[in-house]
Amino acid sequence: MLPAVRRNPTGVFMDAARRYGEVVYFKIGPRRGYLVTNPADVRHVLQDNAPNYHKSPLYDKLRGLLGNGLLTSEGDFWLRQRRIAQPAFHRQHIAALTGVMADAARDAAAQWQTIASAGRPIDVDDEMMRLTRTVVLRTLLGADLGPFADQVDGAWKILNKHIGESFWSFGLTDWWPSARMRRVKAARAVLRGAVEHVIADRRRRASDSADLLSMLMAARDEETGEGMTDEQLRVEVTTFLLAGQETTSLALTWIWYLLSQNPPAQRRLERELDAALEGRPPDFADLVNLPYTRMVIDEAMRLYPPAWGFSREALADDRVGGFRVRRGWLVFVVPYVLHRLPAFWENPDVFDPERFAPERSAARPKFVYLPFGAGPRQCIGNQFALIEAHLVLATLAQRYRLHLVPGHRVDAWPLITLRPRFGMPMIVERRSVHSV
Ligand code: HEM
Repeated sequence: MLPAVRRNPTGVFMDAARRYGEVVYFKIGPRRGYLVTNPADVRHVLQDNAPNYHKSPLYDKLRGLLGNGLLTSEGDFWLRQRRIAQPAFHRQHIAALTGVMADAARDAAAQWQTIASAGRPIDVDDEMMRLTRTVVLRTLLGADLGPFADQVDGAWKILNKHIGESFWSFGLTDWWPSARMRRVKAARAVLRGAVEHVIADRRRRASDSADLLSMLMAARDEETGEGMTDEQLRVEVTTFLLAGQETTSLALTWIWYLLSQNPPAQRRLERELDAALEGRPPDFADLVNLPYTRMVIDEAMRLYPPAWGFSREALADDRVGGFRVRRGWLVFVVPYVLHRLPAFWENPDVFDPERFAPERSAARPKFVYLPFGAGPRQCIGNQFALIEAHLVLATLAQRYRLHLVPGHRVDAWPLITLRPRFGMPMIVERRSVHSV
């Protein structure tokens, strides 16, 4: 299956699940494995028997970029890093950061005013990336990127494309010199420079803030009393910088796209915003009164999960769904497929935020909706991302309506994350803010 999977992984997995059912055996290049789509099997792999399943060798490319950090490491080392970072993501801690999130969204709303009057299209993908990056930097890392600010998004796009396209090469190295590898090397240097700038800046200012970066810097090993090495600190800052901005920004990009294609949902969202906010810009306390806005986010991440698929490697023989998994085999868990299974989702390809209304969600089994993964390796930033997306969507949709540039082709591109292959150029239209 290797050539087919390399060409179109989401299409191959979707087709396999629809044709062959809950457990599909694959031979991909030198590896064997299963795609599992039964919620009980997904739960077995990600949660109940999680110690038997490590992140698969397909993550090696990401490990090569990020190093051995929270996203990519395993075992006791992973647990230690997770415990160090966890307090920064407690609900009260995040609640204290929402003012900064709201301010960043309002700044973006103010900037869109000129864009809207000019009538020029903007690339929403770039806009959302810049916004979510600002939020991560201001809330978790308390820093700016200095001279690297304008270069990191471009660098990350090059690296995402490179890793995504060579994802399925199973350890073949990228040692040969080529124009592409020179670009990749330059992009890595930008990222490293940006991360070093963040750390050096904090050391210089010796800030007393209690954000994630200070927690990482203050962490001491219980036995040796030693802090993280500079290299480990760089690894974790890179992880949070990328994991924290990319996925949330893609969720928002797909939301704008889906709203532009579904005017009734768009109008319903605007009505909710107008009624609940009466013209004021939203803050954290308003979010409970914006349930439809949240349903739009959930539904967009169903159709376009930014983390579209992940995989594990079995450490020992096991059984999944009645089938034997041998040591070293892979198991694929693919939210993009789970989220469109007709057995659990009526009209799965239709954008229908109402399916996330509490009464309709209650009937759905757990483990068929996994935008943030599940089990011990579930996304540490899920609440952070949801609150941020809620505030950003409410702030911007209250004042603007976005229209896809006519004729633009939209194609979901499954790299490490699910990106719009040709970007997302949209025209920003100003709405008059109603108070109801
Ligand atoms: C819509 C936004 C987001 C989505 C869809 C998302 C998705 C995911 C998924 C699916 C995983 C698990 C991967 C696996 O099991 O192999 C994950 C892990 C992770 N995410 Fe997120 N994420 C989002 C936002 C964030 C944010 C805002 C942060 C940080 C500020 C973050 C940091 C991380 C980290 C550090 C991990 C690794 C956790 C561990 O293994 O202990 N993510 N994310």
